Amino acid sequence: MRIAIIGAGNVGGTLGTAWAQKAGHEIFFGVRNPTSDQTQAVVRRLGGKAQAGTPAQAAPFAEFIVLTTPWNAAEAAIRSMGDLKGKILLDATNPLAMGPDGLGLEIGHDISAGEKVQAWATGASVFKALNTTGFGNMADPVFRGVKSVMFVAGDDTANKPRVIALVAALGFEVVDAGPLRNARLLEAHAMLWIELAIKRGLGRDWAFAIVRR
Ligand SMILES: NC(=O)c1ccc[n+]([C@@H]2O[C@H](COP(=O)([O-])OP(=O)(O)OC[C@H]3O[C@@H](n4cnc5c(N)ncnc54)[C@H](OP(=O)(O)O)[C@@H]3O)[C@@H](O)[C@H]2O)c1
Repeated sequence: MRIAIIGAGNVGGTLGTAWAQKAGHEIFFGVRNPTSDQTQAVVRRLGGKAQAGTPAQAAPFAEFIVLTTPWNAAEAAIRSMGDLKGKILLDATNPLAMGPDGLGLEIGHDISAGEKVQAWATGASVFKALNTTGFGNMADPVFRGVKSVMFVAGDDTANKPRVIALVAALGFEVVDAGPLRNARLLEAHAMLWIELAIKRGLGRDWAFAIVRR
């Protein structure tokens, strides 16, 4: 399968590597500066499985597009991709900003980054996914034999099973978290992971999982 990943940093580089190496998918990274050392290092690591260009070059390559830019670059990145009609876009961003209490969510409760991404990405089908754990866990989501959880929220029920399969190929237990408006919950959930990891001393090497009776 062909996947365009917008951004080749912590999250983009990790996801591209995992999909190429675990599932054999072909990756096209779309970044502002495709010749940067960071982007070229990932492309080299993946050999013939990856290439890099601008977002406008990456988007037509694939039906699946994964947005992994900083939140303050998300709108520009989406607009720079051009026509997104018929594309399936996974939004991994979190709307983070520094506030009076330190790092927090810039928006929430009555709107989410996922819904804003859908408004900017005209014609695309947007899913919120891959935002609720650290990038290290995206490389290795299994803890002592237990899959950590990843949620997928989106309104396009016809394509949701394909998105769930794509995320599951990384090694997560994937849970359908309902419509895209539930991105409001998933972004707050991500903020809890960040709070615990960074401010409360848990570090980055843990994840949320579903346990059942
Ligand atoms: N870090 C985590 O553990 C984690 C976990 C879950 C979700 N997230 C979310 O995922 C997003 C990315 O985080 P990150 O840690 O991967 O950030 P990062 O390491 O800073 O990488 C950001 C990437 O976005 C690219 N970029 C910036 N502006 C762009 C634009 N206009 N068009 C295309 N590409 C652009 C950058 O490349 P150029 O500058 O070359 O364009 C870079 O490759 C954030 O929204 C974050 O909240 C992060």
